[in-house]
Amino acid sequence: MARILITSALPYINGIKHLGNLVGSQLPADLYARYARARGHEVMFICATDEHGTPAEIAAAKAGQPVAEYCAAMHEVQGELARGFGLSFDHFGRSSSARNHALTQHLAARLGAAGLIEEVSEKQVYSHTDGRFLPDRYIEGTCPNCGYERARGDQCEECTKQLDPTDLINPRSAISGATDLEVRETRHLYLRQSKLRDTLDQWIDSQKGWPVLTTSIAKKWLHDGDGLQDRGITRDLDWGVPVQFEGAPWGGMDGKVFYVWFDAPIEYIAATAEWADALGKPDSEWRRWWRMDEGAEDVRYVQFMGKDNVPFHTLSFPATLIGANFDGAEPWKMVDYIKSFNYLNYDGGQFSTSLGRGVFMDQALALLPSDYWRWWLLSHAPENSDSEFTWENFQASVNKDLADVLGNLVSRVTKFCRSKFGEMVPEGGSYGAREQQLIDDLTRGLTSYQNVMDGMMVRRSAQDLRALWVLGNEYLQEAAPWSAFKTDPEQAAAQIRLALNLIRFYAVISQPFIPDASARIMAALRCDDWSWPEDMAQALGVLPAGHVFEVPDVLFAKITDEQRIEWEAQFSGKN
Ligand code: MF3
Ligand code: ZN
Repeated sequence: MARILITSALPYINGIKHLGNLVGSQLPADLYARYARARGHEVMFICATDEHGTPAEIAAAKAGQPVAEYCAAMHEVQGELARGFGLSFDHFGRSSSARNHALTQHLAARLGAAGLIEEVSEKQVYSHTDGRFLPDRYIEGTCPNCGYERARGDQCEECTKQLDPTDLINPRSAISGATDLEVRETRHLYLRQSKLRDTLDQWIDSQKGWPVLTTSIAKKWLHDGDGLQDRGITRDLDWGVPVQFEGAPWGGMDGKVFYVWFDAPIEYIAATAEWADALGKPDSEWRRWWRMDEGAEDVRYVQFMGKDNVPFHTLSFPATLIGANFDGAEPWKMVDYIKSFNYLNYDGGQFSTSLGRGVFMDQALALLPSDYWRWWLLSHAPENSDSEFTWENFQASVNKDLADVLGNLVSRVTKFCRSKFGEMVPEGGSYGAREQQLIDDLTRGLTSYQNVMDGMMVRRSAQDLRALWVLGNEYLQEAAPWSAFKTDPEQAAAQIRLALNLIRFYAVISQPFIPDASARIMAALRCDDWSWPEDMAQALGVLPAGHVFEVPDVLFAKITDEQRIEWEAQFSGKN
């Protein structure tokens, strides 16, 4: 038994996430967490909402709410949807928590003590009407190069010229349209990442078996151009973790907060502390996951994220943790494996939050139970390249894999048993060569499934699981207990006894993918023995002759052509 720490990239607070967001981090992380628990490991699975930054402030302003209220409400909404999708977080925290404020400030102070923080004076645009400094991309004006009237302060989208906000002609605030802008001098903190370049480089080289997608992105940022750049870690915003605090090694930073990407990954740790707080556990309980000197040396830490998040998790966050341990006094647990994903597209284009294009988590659950979505998304996870959601593809997967292969087997076996033997595992007869062959095939298939699940190969795992379901169907087709019953009822009884046990076996091993359906099968079988199959012959004997069960309701309803056509139109984002 091992101890496994699992984190999913933290979803931004500003709105309900679409299925592409879900499959890029939270859902595969849940698959792995459920599997690891099922195999008997001790698991800590952490997620949270990422609540700071300009997008959160703007979303709150749009919703006409104070930002703290907006975030609190949206955290509830996202938490409810996570439960709806069966995401089995040990804790779903908030990056705005008191724990994260304290830990972010603490780590920043440590970086200061390490000599890794530099104070830099900069010129920045202040908007009197908005009462705040504006980030470059929130200033609009006319491009001095091409005359495009809606150029942004960082770049003109028309002629692609890189700009400074002061280059713009007739600059205005993109938030309010205000023109009473002024360039002011302001001071910021920079994290001197460049000083850690060699250390980070060696750390990455020492990682075994990381996916190429992960290491190549990290290496590019380390070595391209002038190499790893120092990074501003403060912003002129109200909402966030204050930079000026009791005992801060700098002064004059009032009214500033840490940059959202500085505090967000720290929330992985802080959320684990929130977990302990919520359960009334002492600090030692969360620290044994995160501090090498307090028990974390035997923890394996795995992170899940989309590829755009990789630089922050291979460089910036490690720089924070390595830097904070400059004197060896704070050895924080660093990640052991990063599982990153490409993008999921929607029907020939991208998911678009602003255009309402694609399926969002709330809409998905309103249409169909979460297992349908989990199965499709995981079996089509964008692992080696981008992948695409189409309604046709979704309909085909649900109808074939879930309804025809798994659902149909469960229904045929339980109903046949009820009509011939009653709702009880039948006794009599014995297993022969065909049964032994099934056991051998399942043993091989299960070993393969376990290997790819251990390796977090999500699509391959779905394929292997489906192949195991197919083995059961082939067995039933060949054994044909419905014909056997006419000539040799004892033999049919043995076959059905095996098949009922096979159904339980499927419920147990499918649970990481389709937890609700698995729970319904187990309830119908009146079984709560969820133990992972270690020996196939034994696993197929868990339900003894005489064990009482019920025929379950239809497990998976097929998606009709009418539904598919209706949904295609509904989610095209064109109306
Ligand atoms: N909110 C970011 C995104 O959706 C991910 C933050 S991950 C964290 O891209 F580690 F920084 F929290
Ligand atoms: Zn231009």
